[in-house]
Amino acid sequence: MIIAIDGPAATGKSSTAKAVAEKLGFMYLDTGAMYRAVTLAVLEKDISLTHVYTLESFLTSLDLNIHYIEKTLMIELDQLDVTDRIRDPEVTAKVSEVSALPAVRKTMVKFQRKLASGKDCIVEGRDIGTVVFPNADLKFYMIADASIRAERRKKDLLTLGKNKDISELETEIKNRDRKDSTRVHSPLSKSEDSIIIDTSHLDFYEQVNMIVEKIKTIQKGKT
Ligand code: DC
Repeated sequence: MIIAIDGPAATGKSSTAKAVAEKLGFMYLDTGAMYRAVTLAVLEKDISLTHVYTLESFLTSLDLNIHYIEKTLMIELDQLDVTDRIRDPEVTAKVSEVSALPAVRKTMVKFQRKLASGKDCIVEGRDIGTVVFPNADLKFYMIADASIRAERRKKDLLTLGKNKDISELETEIKNRDRKDSTRVHSPLSKSEDSIIIDTSHLDFYEQVNMIVEKIKTIQKGKT
């Protein structure tokens, strides 16, 4: 069973998807983390995004691995653990540009389908219900006010020992939304058959349970 969770940045998709997966014993795939890992590799290897051949050979030789260690997703690049580094501000600043490239999307979508197909998986991203798994069993689209999202991002950064001005974070989030939803290839958009979950004023456990219950209803129908 494939469950798609899409939506703009910092709406609580990752933490919700992870908690839902844990409750149901499903696998959890954070596709944003995959685009972040590619972006980190682009920055580290100083890959030109305008040279099609350079980019394609870089993608072909990309050594990206996803592991689950005690249910926690670990991202490896060239056999090194980069799970924390993909959240660095330089990566966040560049990821919209890198993830807008058709060659990058093609490679990642193929990889995501390979990782999740045939499994019980919560797949989280921007284009899961529209492009990666248009036939997902259930689709959710999470939204939240930009100011609330900035507050959440600030808290996340603080847990990583980083601090950033809240208004700067709100501007960054809005810019990323604009770039992600106006790009030509697979823009962030809500598929018609997805259920909107506005997390602005929802308690975390409420939103997790709401999604879990909807999935259980579908599961019952399948048995
Ligand atoms: O969910 P996140 O903020 O970690 O995602 C990082 C970036 O990756 C986001 O700005 C857009 C891109 N992304 C994408 O284009 N398609 C996806 N399925 C997931 C993320």
